[in-house]
Amino acid sequence: MVAGNLGRSAFHFGTNLKMHQTPQQTLAFLDGLISDGCVSSERSQLFVIPPFTSLHGAASHPAHQHLWLGAQTMHWADSGPFTGEISPTMLAGIGVDLVLLGHAERRQLFHETDVMINKKALAAIRHHLRVLLCVGETAKERHLGISEATVLRQLELALDGLPGSGADLLMVAYEPIWSIGVTGRAAQPGEIRVVINAIHSFLQGRFGAESSIPILYGGSVDVNNCRAFAKMPGIDGLFVGRAAWTPAGFAAVLKAAESSRFGA
Ligand code: PGA
Repeated sequence: MVAGNLGRSAFHFGTNLKMHQTPQQTLAFLDGLISDGCVSSERSQLFVIPPFTSLHGAASHPAHQHLWLGAQTMHWADSGPFTGEISPTMLAGIGVDLVLLGHAERRQLFHETDVMINKKALAAIRHHLRVLLCVGETAKERHLGISEATVLRQLELALDGLPGSGADLLMVAYEPIWSIGVTGRAAQPGEIRVVINAIHSFLQGRFGAESSIPILYGGSVDVNNCRAFAKMPGIDGLFVGRAAWTPAGFAAVLKAAESSRFGA
């Protein structure tokens, strides 16, 4: 099944379900996105990133004609003695469109390094999977005034050796680690402007001004604060966690973000 593709200039909007939902619950979630009218949006490129076990069923759900389906991580090898891991071949084989790489929880809780993320990014592109690459600094790095340097280092290492043609499959999500999850606090748009601009300049320098790689913001995005992020120059989409884990929540944040960005 080929997921709809609204193009690079579309607003990008999606959620990572983390370790939530059984396969049946994900199908019900996708049913809900259809009945809440989300998938008929012609202004936003939607994506949903459920657990591995939900991917196969979700790939043949009718909602998948309108959104990209993503995996939360993957190994870089096509196959091999890597117990517990999932390969790009396996993901591509069931019709997955994108893979999330470098999420802060993978980096912090599962010790994923920039070198591992780089191998994964290169493998994903080789298999024509879209990459949603997460970057972001810790509270300490922000306090020390090295947010920009940290994020640029993450980008430089993750994208090392990526061919220019890979830019078409790349999206970057800036997620300051201090803003993620129930223990995080939502950023103020003013606090993230400098890093968003730095990411933009880096990507233009690396892939050319015309590459227009979407830059998404994530971290405690909700129905209230999404409006300010959605209309911020340099932000091409939102990557939402817990506020979008129900169809009603997903629809509410999407609609609020779209009305702020595009007008009612
Ligand atoms: P949150 O999650 O919106 O629940 O903070 C964001 C993320 O982890 O990507």
